[in-house]
Amino acid sequence: MNRRLGVLISGRGSNLQALVDAIAEGRLDASIAVVISNRVNAAGLERARAAGIDALFISHRAFATRDDFDRALVRELQARNVGLVCLAGFMRLVGPELIGAFPNRILNIHPSLLPAFPGLDAQRQAIEHGVKVSGVTVHLVTAELDGGPIVVQRVVPVLPDDTAASLAARILEEEHRAYPEAVQMILDGGWRLDGRRLVAAKSPISASM
Ligand code: GRF
Repeated sequence: MNRRLGVLISGRGSNLQALVDAIAEGRLDASIAVVISNRVNAAGLERARAAGIDALFISHRAFATRDDFDRALVRELQARNVGLVCLAGFMRLVGPELIGAFPNRILNIHPSLLPAFPGLDAQRQAIEHGVKVSGVTVHLVTAELDGGPIVVQRVVPVLPDDTAASLAARILEEEHRAYPEAVQMILDGGWRLDGRRLVAAKSPISASM
């Protein structure tokens, strides 16, 4: 599979940084062809430029419709021959134009164990619900918000004194492990979808049993 990534961000970009670092350290066999932010002051744009990566600001406000914005994203991604799109704190719903151009080739990272707590403020939702564990999910993006096939999940304890902020910080550490791992897995291929289940490749040993 084409190992050129396009990373879409809106803010801090710590997950982008985790991908940059994993590539630099040889834990992730990929390259980042472009980073695109829909917010001009996203700190992640600076991180990208510091790493020598092509970094673009494309305001969704410059477009009349979501489809028009998505088509502009697709143009920039395709112009750089991107094979896999990674949403990393990208605060826009992606529509059919983007999903159609990269079917099962868009990943998102979400700070809860989906399907629990989709949408905004997942860490606050977890605290308010009183769950004892939460975590992170990396999933393929489909038309359903935070609802696509799950690639990687990692569990994080919720402690009695946690606030949304302290839980978010603990989950973020696992996010930074989970995202490079999930990207590597998708790029390596050998997986298939069975309904909404992502089934990993059989190892040669279990395949012969
Ligand atoms: C992360 O918590 C991610 O799970 C969520 O948005 C946040 C982005 O953080 N989708 P960062 O910009 O990668 O630091």
